[in-house]
Amino acid sequence: MDENKPPRMYFIGKKEDLVQAKRMNVTLDGRDILIIYHQRTFYALDLQCYHAGSSLEPGDIEEINNKLCIVCPKHKYKITLAEGEGLYKATNPAEKVPTPRWYSKGIKQRVHKVTEVDEDIFVTLSNCPGWIESDYYQTEKGRAELRKAQESEDGEADVNADEDV
Ligand code: FES
Repeated sequence: MDENKPPRMYFIGKKEDLVQAKRMNVTLDGRDILIIYHQRTFYALDLQCYHAGSSLEPGDIEEINNKLCIVCPKHKYKITLAEGEGLYKATNPAEKVPTPRWYSKGIKQRVHKVTEVDEDIFVTLSNCPGWIESDYYQTEKGRAELRKAQESEDGEADVNADEDV
């Protein structure tokens, strides 16, 4: 992210339309963003999951440790909607009675600011300094990797379709 760029608010749409749509993805300044409306709140985060780039758009939303999380459809990673924090469940073998608990991996997915002005919804891209893992899939290299993976999946699908004939 360019930290010196003044933050710009991008108009996304009318609140009423976005509330009805519940989810939509947009590309702002070359960045793919997922907008979610859930429990009367808007969220905006990078569209591609930090783990391996799958689209988060169809992900379920669950509450974990009092935080709303989107569950990536591909490998079920949990990402908090408000902060972009990666959560995982584990047990600590040092405990007398090891009990599974949720732990944080820190911020993994870049989240953006949503502003409502007179029924219009705007997104301001995060200019949080430093590298956040989801940034990778917004780079040329990350996008090329996703295209390649998609092409190989499509190729496999074609082979399977041929086999069914
Ligand atoms: S791509 Fe999202 S969990 Fe693996």
